[in-house]
Amino acid sequence: MIRIIGFAGSLRSASYNAALLREAAQLAPPESAIDIVSIRDVPLYDQELEESAFPAAVAAIKDRIASADGLLIATPEYNNSLPGVAKNAVDWLSRPSDDSDRVFKDLPVAVMGASPGRWGTRLAQNAWLSAWRTLGVMPYFDGRLEIGNASRVFDSNGHLIDDAVRTLLREFVEGFVAFAARYSRLRSRDWGSPGE
Ligand code: FNR
Repeated sequence: MIRIIGFAGSLRSASYNAALLREAAQLAPPESAIDIVSIRDVPLYDQELEESAFPAAVAAIKDRIASADGLLIATPEYNNSLPGVAKNAVDWLSRPSDDSDRVFKDLPVAVMGASPGRWGTRLAQNAWLSAWRTLGVMPYFDGRLEIGNASRVFDSNGHLIDDAVRTLLREFVEGFVAFAARYSRLRSRDWGSPGE
């Protein structure tokens, strides 16, 4: 069983990216599952908080990712870059630094996104690359999923109503699951505990 953890980089309930991720989970091929986690309870990063009372919500997501075969992020695009709430979540998930490899090293990671605009989060997806390089993940580059004109692709209940986009999404998900199956075997599960 290939297990992918997914989160949407938007907190709003009518988020196109949350809708895209839900649809992706529906399209997970046999012998795979996309489990969606929320970043809503991740606080703003604060080093004093990290050192005094590490947030339980962050620790829980870290453990879910550490034991998964891959991470799928549905990212909005803000000001031609990535949204602060999503970057904040990844920043927390990378802390403390001596526990970052357990979560991210060689982790298959795919980024997709939806926007009501024309370019479908292309620049946001590019903006993630610096973080992926720094964290040493295994980025999925074989496919791209940049959904523009999202208000016509999803209905008001967040259901995907565009069959062509569904086909693209299915191909993307299948490609990423196959990639995760191939490369998650490279991941060592023996990173030890922080400080060891
Ligand atoms: C946006 N939006 C946006 N869209 C885009 O395609 N390129 C952009 O650069 C921006 N910039 C931007 C900045 C800020 C501060 C906001 C709040 C919004 C619009 C954005 O794509 C839209 O709000 C989406 O609906 C956000 O994603 P969710 O919440 O639907 O997943």
